[in-house]
Amino acid sequence: MTDLPFNRPFRTGAEAARVAAVLERGWTGGNGPQSTHCEALLKALTQTHRVLLTHSCTGALEMAALLTGVGPGDEVIMPSFTFVSTANAFVLRGATPVFVDVDPVTLNIDPRRAAAAMTASTKAIVAVHYGGVGCDMTALSALAGDHGLILVEDAAQGIGATIDGRALGAIGDLGALSFHETKNVSCGEGGALLLNDACWEERAEILQEKGTNRSRFSRGEVDHYTWVDLGSSFLMSDVTAALLAEQLECLAEITAARLEIWDAYHAALEPFEHAGLLQRPAIAPGARHNAHLYRLMLRDRGTRDGLIKALAAEGIGAYFHYVPLHSAPGGQRFGRVHGPMDVTDAAAGRLVRLPLWVGMTGGDVARIADAVGRALRG
Ligand SMILES: Cc1ncc(COP(=O)(O)O)c(C=O)c1O
Repeated sequence: MTDLPFNRPFRTGAEAARVAAVLERGWTGGNGPQSTHCEALLKALTQTHRVLLTHSCTGALEMAALLTGVGPGDEVIMPSFTFVSTANAFVLRGATPVFVDVDPVTLNIDPRRAAAAMTASTKAIVAVHYGGVGCDMTALSALAGDHGLILVEDAAQGIGATIDGRALGAIGDLGALSFHETKNVSCGEGGALLLNDACWEERAEILQEKGTNRSRFSRGEVDHYTWVDLGSSFLMSDVTAALLAEQLECLAEITAARLEIWDAYHAALEPFEHAGLLQRPAIAPGARHNAHLYRLMLRDRGTRDGLIKALAAEGIGAYFHYVPLHSAPGGQRFGRVHGPMDVTDAAAGRLVRLPLWVGMTGGDVARIADAVGRALRG
């Protein structure tokens, strides 16, 4: 039995009352009062131009892909070390993902690799902030600016984190957040699209509301609403938004608690790094991370897989991370690779993530660190 699971979603205890209040009030569809409240909280947090809640980060990325206007023949540069939705959103538009390697310290897209992958067909770059540690947005913004490219941030893991003082998701042109149950702030399934300039707003509202101008109608700007453009139902129900609001209001507390656990891991595992048994994560200069995950790099795949097994035998849930997209059947069918993938392949084979959730104690961390040490010493 796993008594220290990999993840346990944070709960305040007031969720049920909050959902009951929404049911009482009666607005359970999208763009209701709870959604508006969450959007205002996220706007204040990120200092972006506008936030639209979505049913998932996947949905927010699909909206971003639609907004970029990419289509067949266009290329979008992104890391291979990411979740499938980063790429699928653009593949759905007919564009080709071009996978490049990541930086060995952050496991974020390497701006030099992105620059080298540029062709006349490149239309956008996607920066994925792995583990809530910001990408080198200075270099990526310069690259996008110099070549007239749209910069999209997949900040699925980035709520509450900053790089050089700016919120992840609010630096490029468009950003996407996730509130899936595995994320720091969660409402089961949920996401948000960040529009970092007014120029995206009118079309984004239409895309979110099934291709109609319903948002304008709701504001009384038109006397009926109708089909005006492409779109889908990207909305979040106000029932879900009530759950999200409950958590967003506790973001500072959640992040502080997670950072405490992250720091405890970092201290407890230091001797093992000095003994050459593992590599701890390093945080890039300028990054204020959100302790989304605590990861280790092991010597090789066998050691990593053995560690996961040994921890499972002690009731501790630990996991590897992405199967790199360039090596997945979908990635080979829809995308292409540019340059070597050494860092990505090494991370896929040697990385392990340890349990990290609010409610874990110092004793839990000590027990896990001890189990890691024993497993690695054999
Ligand atoms: C980098 C990244 N992008 C996108 C997603 C998709 O998020 P969602 O489950 O909210 O659609 C995830 C989910 O884990 C992710 O890690």
